[in-house]
Amino acid sequence: MNILLTGGMGYIGSHTAVLLANTGHQVHIYDNLCNSSPSTLERIQKITSKDIGFTEGDVRDTEKLADVLRKEKIGAVIHLAGLKAVGESSQKPIEYYANNVQGSISLIQAMQSAGINTLVFSSSATVYGDPIYLPYDEEHPTKPTNPYGRNKLQIEDMLRDLSVSDKEWKISCLRYFNPVGAHESGHIGEDPNGIPNNLMPVIGQVVNGILPSLNIFGNDYDTPDGTGKRDYIHVMDLAEGHLAALVWLQSNPGCHNFNLGSGDSYSVLDLLYHFEQASGLKIPHQVVGRRPGDLPEYYAKADKAEKLLGWKAKKTLSDICSSSWLWIKSSKN
Ligand code: NAD
Ligand code: WQD
Repeated sequence: MNILLTGGMGYIGSHTAVLLANTGHQVHIYDNLCNSSPSTLERIQKITSKDIGFTEGDVRDTEKLADVLRKEKIGAVIHLAGLKAVGESSQKPIEYYANNVQGSISLIQAMQSAGINTLVFSSSATVYGDPIYLPYDEEHPTKPTNPYGRNKLQIEDMLRDLSVSDKEWKISCLRYFNPVGAHESGHIGEDPNGIPNNLMPVIGQVVNGILPSLNIFGNDYDTPDGTGKRDYIHVMDLAEGHLAALVWLQSNPGCHNFNLGSGDSYSVLDLLYHFEQASGLKIPHQVVGRRPGDLPEYYAKADKAEKLLGWKAKKTLSDICSSSWLWIKSSKN
């Protein structure tokens, strides 16, 4: 199938592009490069030895996007383009609504004009908000606590309304938990512009000497070692989830939500320990105060994806840390 990846030059998109190209799909990436580098395209091509199409453009440019959809004879879209920093979304909410919500409206309009109705959307576990129970299943109430999470929920709501109004649409909203890790080649990985917020890229910057040490945000949570616990999912497992959703959607119209997580949770100290084991390094760190808005723990019930999509996260925390180490090491040189 010819598949368009909006935001495909980014962290999750580049890994998904590799998997799709390696499983015989024709991939075209549409990205404005606001949080990625053009060199990622060569890296994807190097890993896959496949010709990957690329158009530099903003998803809010509806006409340009529709032209690409038609010209490339696209059959399905994976919509990853978006701004994703939770803290920044509270400082610049309108920028986030304009990019994420308006961008998604523009994409739907472009797809309508090109006659395409299969869509996989990158949503987030953030849509759930404070846990009423754990693990979160897809029926858990949604009450996001920040503008970024509200963007994701508004887009999901819009997609649900669309699928009710037009029964031809086939849509999957994939609620990712904490994507980490890198491709086994070490050629692609998470490479954010500016100062990272997420744990693994921060560790990467400590290793590369950009940051002096890791601040651990609190060790007084009600968890076994006191640090926050998360459901870390390897980015290549996540990529497999997109492919499984695309295949399943072919015979399942409507709008469907799926949690993509491992179903386990690990603390900051667990992750640090596994990273130190994988790299043979000691990561300088100290405990500081809690980060505002952080939850003590959350993780996925991912049974729905296993039952319907036949998808399950396979990689371990050790796989995650060794692949991240390979990427961090190679990006250092
Ligand atoms: P990323 O920033 O690495 O990739 C996003 C890509 O989208 C970037 O290449 C950026 O240049 C592009 N982009 C942003 N706005 C655009 C626009 N208006 N037009 C065209 N391109 C645009 O982020 P990622 O980690 O790969 O995340 C991909 C998607 O998954 C995002 O929608 C994000 O919200 C969602 N998500 C990410 C995580 C995570 O922790 N990484 C978790 C849950 C959901
Ligand atoms: C993980 C753990 C921190 C950095 C965010 C978004 C979520 C999703 C994934 C998009 C927590 C601790 C972190 C550091 C630390 N993204 N930590 N020192 O906050 O679980 O989730 O990314 O949809 O929506 O909220 O991920 O990687 O920032 O934090 O101690 O320098 O690491 O407190 O316990 P988070 P994270």
